[in-house]
Amino acid sequence: MSNLTRHLGGSIFFTMTATDVPLYLAGHLAPVPDEMDAVDLPVDGLLPPELTGRYLRNGPNPRPGEDPGHWFTGHGMIHGLRLRNGRAEWYRNRWVRTGALAGRPFIRADGALDRTAVVANTHVLEHAGRLLALVESGFPYELTPELDTVGPCDFGGRLRTAMTAHPKCDPVTGDLHFFGYDALPPYLTYHRLSATGELVCSVEVPGAGPSMMHDFAITDRHALFLDLPVTFQIGLLGRGLPYAWDDGYPARIGVMELDRPGPVRWFPVEPGYVFHVGGAHTDPRGRIVLDGCRYTPADTVAMWGRLGGFASPAAAAAALGVARLHRWVLDLTAGTVVETVRDERAVEFPTVDDRLVGRASRHLYAVSDSAIVHYDEAGAVAEHELGPDVVAGEAVFVPAADGAAENEGWLLTITTRRDGSASQLLVLDATDVAGPPVAAVRLPRGVPAGFHGSWIPDAPNMDEGDRR
Ligand SMILES: [Fe+2]
Repeated sequence: MSNLTRHLGGSIFFTMTATDVPLYLAGHLAPVPDEMDAVDLPVDGLLPPELTGRYLRNGPNPRPGEDPGHWFTGHGMIHGLRLRNGRAEWYRNRWVRTGALAGRPFIRADGALDRTAVVANTHVLEHAGRLLALVESGFPYELTPELDTVGPCDFGGRLRTAMTAHPKCDPVTGDLHFFGYDALPPYLTYHRLSATGELVCSVEVPGAGPSMMHDFAITDRHALFLDLPVTFQIGLLGRGLPYAWDDGYPARIGVMELDRPGPVRWFPVEPGYVFHVGGAHTDPRGRIVLDGCRYTPADTVAMWGRLGGFASPAAAAAALGVARLHRWVLDLTAGTVVETVRDERAVEFPTVDDRLVGRASRHLYAVSDSAIVHYDEAGAVAEHELGPDVVAGEAVFVPAADGAAENEGWLLTITTRRDGSASQLLVLDATDVAGPPVAAVRLPRGVPAGFHGSWIPDAPNMDEGDRR
């Protein structure tokens, strides 16, 4: 395999194929045909006994014979592992039983949107005791700890917009901040769930446009909205996703004060696209520092084409379509933004310690084509290289204990062989990412590379009957 093909081949970048099969149905992205259960999984190395809980990961998995027309529109499937006291007790995978899986259309006959007829394929996380599968086009779906679907969740009828798959939990207040975006006005609505799971705030954000807003960030006092030039285009309705690069649309970051939701101050930034942010915080001078993986305009166009299923040889030859770790520093007093490229590696799926969301964080994790990458703010970068035949998934940080120092813990990721034939749950020591894995759980078959997941530790008061 050439270096170029490797460079473009993994994680959210696709392997080039010589067939007519869309890239999102082939190789490490090929869906599995069914649901299964396995118990007592073989483990190489030693699983830390502190890892007692569930690792869950969501991703698209069209049913056999189905071509959804875009990688992002396959039905959501959760892959879960139950770890306890050094053992991998079970693996199971379940489709999320959504309205879309039942065959209901997103746009009803009367023209209204059915926010339950969505694929729920992007993220899975727990808040206030509710386990939610999320996709940005609709309502979340609640799941049981065993991954069965309870049903759609609109928080007692209070949620009237879609919900992003990337809410942010403030580690101090426990509030879950999120937003919903839409192709039609109101384009952007900010929401807040209390620590106990009540939807306590929903406010329209004025001045936003019809951009595809996948992620956002918070600091201890702000929400940061990424209003970027990938916009809704009605002419694209019908197959795939009706969004595309828009040269005429200004790129902006909107800053909203969390204690005064609604008004936003917009800061122009260099055109580009960002699926995912890393950390964000306010620095001692009151400036906002935001990290994210940014695609240049040319990279965005190449990436978007590939996500739609087919690689452009010209884009591949030019090594286009990748994101790089970028930093924006917003000076609220001067009204300026300074942008820098933090690193030239092609990386995606940036993550931080959940205990430091919205706060200064020395450590950031990401994945390249076939490696887990650890960025230390002090300057060091470490890579855990998986080899040319294995693709890395998002790396989720799990602290070693409640009071553990930043970076003292493990990184969990599901890796997949490039041909889709096998997968592992890899456990790395976050303080020694380049070192050998702490443990690798061998999964019963290949798990298609997907999107986002969470580690959900057992509740301290969970009794034995709940530890299934
Ligand atoms: Fe995402």
